[in-house]
Amino acid sequence: MEIADLAARLACVRRTWTPRQRLHVGNVAWADAHGDGTPVPDITLAWGDPLTGFADIWKPSGTDDQPATASLHLTPQTTSTRLAAAVDDLLQLTPRITVDVSRQHTDLVNALTARGLRESGGPWFAQLWRGLTDLSDLAAHPVPDGYSIRPVRPDELTARVGIHRRCWAPARIRTLLSLPVTGAEPGSSYSTDKHHAVTNTPVYRGELDLVAVAADGSFAAFGLGWLDVTSGSVLFEPVGTDPAHERRGLARALCAAILRTARDLGATQAVVGPRGDPGYPVPRRLYEGLGMREVAQFVPFSTG
Ligand SMILES: CC(C)(COP(=O)(O)OP(=O)(O)OC[C@H]1O[C@@H](n2cnc3c(N)ncnc32)[C@H](O)[C@@H]1OP(=O)(O)O)[C@@H](O)C(=O)NCCC(=O)NCCS
Repeated sequence: MEIADLAARLACVRRTWTPRQRLHVGNVAWADAHGDGTPVPDITLAWGDPLTGFADIWKPSGTDDQPATASLHLTPQTTSTRLAAAVDDLLQLTPRITVDVSRQHTDLVNALTARGLRESGGPWFAQLWRGLTDLSDLAAHPVPDGYSIRPVRPDELTARVGIHRRCWAPARIRTLLSLPVTGAEPGSSYSTDKHHAVTNTPVYRGELDLVAVAADGSFAAFGLGWLDVTSGSVLFEPVGTDPAHERRGLARALCAAILRTARDLGATQAVVGPRGDPGYPVPRRLYEGLGMREVAQFVPFSTG
């Protein structure tokens, strides 16, 4: 994406942010770097000047009889008429579509249901939140013996990409999803190019790109925090622990370190968006153990 377009999206999301909004500046930056593995969208839409809404649309692949998928952001101040017009724009381009929305953005939910879209079931995401005024409870999540937690250094790019790839290997995620692993799964798509893209986004902060280092010097876990100084909010996206080091409290200790650093940089609140349905429960358990509680639900609506 052009730098000006990214800047406009970041400004749009930042201007109206509340914990119930589906996108935080960190989500926008992370998606722009394609860190989450999503391909470049087939179509993008933008509304308003300055920007008041935007959408990315991915068409189904050639033989696939699936609806298109869309990521849609419209500011909470968008009038019902403009919401309806934006939904019409989407449907004109792709009459069959699935789009995730915050259940708490009732005007948007109403605009979608008025045009026949219905909540489609299946995986959904929860927004978990906590305040950062009192962090004394985080003392319950110390760094496990034998590890240290610190910001990654710029000269550690290969190791930083490596720990992401081990944590997010598709076979490992399938195991956490209780799905069969065949051994034919591809590797993670995360790469040095993607991490460069992440670090080049205007909201990346090296102080919030943390790694847990094992006794042998290898990286055992990582976590990236995205700080929005305007709203004083920090988002975790993503977090991972190498399967060889899991279930020792590393991810909780690392997230606790991000929260402390973010608070020192001016954050007053933190959010994270794990799966809300029971199909992938570990991340939600991780963050709830840090005192984060559900404040919104991001659910798929579909034309069917
Ligand atoms: C989610 C993840 C980061 C947890 O890392 P971790 O270092 O093992 O987590 P912790 O040891 O701090 O444990 C946090 C909680 O998760 C639970 N947990 C961790 N792994 C688990 C597993 N495989 N099954 C069940 N519970 C698990 C722990 O028991 C603990 O909960 P509890 O204290 O209530 O019992 C790790 O599994 C991972 O990298 N997963 C793949 C990437 C991912 O999903 N990241 C999170 C979304 S951004």
